[in-house]
Amino acid sequence: MKPARHVFVCLNQRPEGHPRGSCGALGAKSVMEAFAGEFEKRGLFEKNLLTGAGCMGPCDQGPTVVVYPEGVWYVRVTPKDVPEICESHLVNGTPVARLELR
Ligand code: FES
Repeated sequence: MKPARHVFVCLNQRPEGHPRGSCGALGAKSVMEAFAGEFEKRGLFEKNLLTGAGCMGPCDQGPTVVVYPEGVWYVRVTPKDVPEICESHLVNGTPVARLELR
C-alpha cells in the first residue's frame, strides 16, 4: 500500500563552522525524534512514512522538512512545531503556512 504522505527530515550534518551550515548543526536530530514520537503517539505510521534524508538545498534555513505528495517544504522547523505539522498537515490536510519555504 502506498503511504498517504511521506515526510522527509534532512539529517545532513556538516562540521561546525562549515560555510554552508547544515540541518544537523541546527538541531535536525531532535526534530526527527519529535516526529518519531508524534507518529508513534498518533498512530501515523499506519498510513504515513517518515524518512531521514540527506541535504535538500536550503541548508542555512534548516532544519528542512519536505512532505509529499504535496511537495510542501518546511524550514526552520523546531521540535515545538512538529505536533502542529502532524495535526494540521498530516491529519487534517492543511499545510502549516507560517513554516513554508518562501
Ligand atoms: S543540510 Fe539540510 S538542506 Fe542542506
